[in-house]
Amino acid sequence: MSDDTWAGLADLFADKAYASVKGHVRTYVLHQHLLEHLPKPPAPVLDVGGGAGHQSFPLAQAGYDVTLLDPSPAMLDKARQRLERLPTEAQRRVTLLQADGEYADNAVNGRRFAAVLCHGVLGYLEQPEPLVDQLCRCAAAGGVVSIMTGNAKATAVQPALERRWEDALAAFDVRTGIGVLGVQGRADTVEEVSELLRSGGVEPVRWYGVWLFVDWLEFSGVELDPHDAKQVAATAAVELEASRRDPYRQLSRVFHLVGRKGPK
Ligand SMILES: C[S@@+](CC[C@H](N)C(=O)[O-])C[C@H]1O[C@@H](n2cnc3c(N)ncnc32)[C@H](O)[C@@H]1O
Repeated sequence: MSDDTWAGLADLFADKAYASVKGHVRTYVLHQHLLEHLPKPPAPVLDVGGGAGHQSFPLAQAGYDVTLLDPSPAMLDKARQRLERLPTEAQRRVTLLQADGEYADNAVNGRRFAAVLCHGVLGYLEQPEPLVDQLCRCAAAGGVVSIMTGNAKATAVQPALERRWEDALAAFDVRTGIGVLGVQGRADTVEEVSELLRSGGVEPVRWYGVWLFVDWLEFSGVELDPHDAKQVAATAAVELEASRRDPYRQLSRVFHLVGRKGPK
């Protein structure tokens, strides 16, 4: 495993980003999408590059048996701290594993999962193929693969909303750039990731957007109050609806693609 490049980002990502309205919207919207495709709990779920467990711990609380795999000791520490705050029975349903996603199959000793999640990871890798191949391998026959990553067709959105017009003009044909965490990232298209899934025997089923209006508001300089629970819930409901429909989902800076592995 390489150096822990996520050590310097663990606090920013796990504490700050997720404490925002955008963070809340992200977990809510993805959780609702997942529930449309996952079998009823208990079922085993593998979260590759699961970070501090923001997406998979709610699944453990809902009764799923979660294995969170991540190469970063700092992110796994965050996950451990957050795990301690869960009810004991949910804690017992979570296993943390340190490994690169590219070796996931080995790391889980060939175990197969009803769902394999990989959210916000592909964009930090130079090549998505080896990781997507592992995601597909780790899914059981009939299992779900869920990938969230940057949308290469919406790369002009952030610079345009930040009124960096020259950057926005250049961004239409560029798929790499500095993302919201201040790290170099790479975006993909739904079609490209769908093709990678198919190569791994997983048929794409449905794709969604993730954020739209909260993203636009934030980049335009509007501050949304994460403590106003009523407004946050109302915002999340609108974002969920937008995430499912054209043309809204097409403009989201990130997409969520769900596929299902064929019977073997
Ligand atoms: C933006 S965070 C996303 C965390 C989590 N999936 C979420 O949605 O909250 C990116 C995560 O990818 C992990 N990561 C980086 N390179 C990876 C790799 N090669 N395989 C698996 N995970 C990786 C990092 O350690 C970090 O925890």
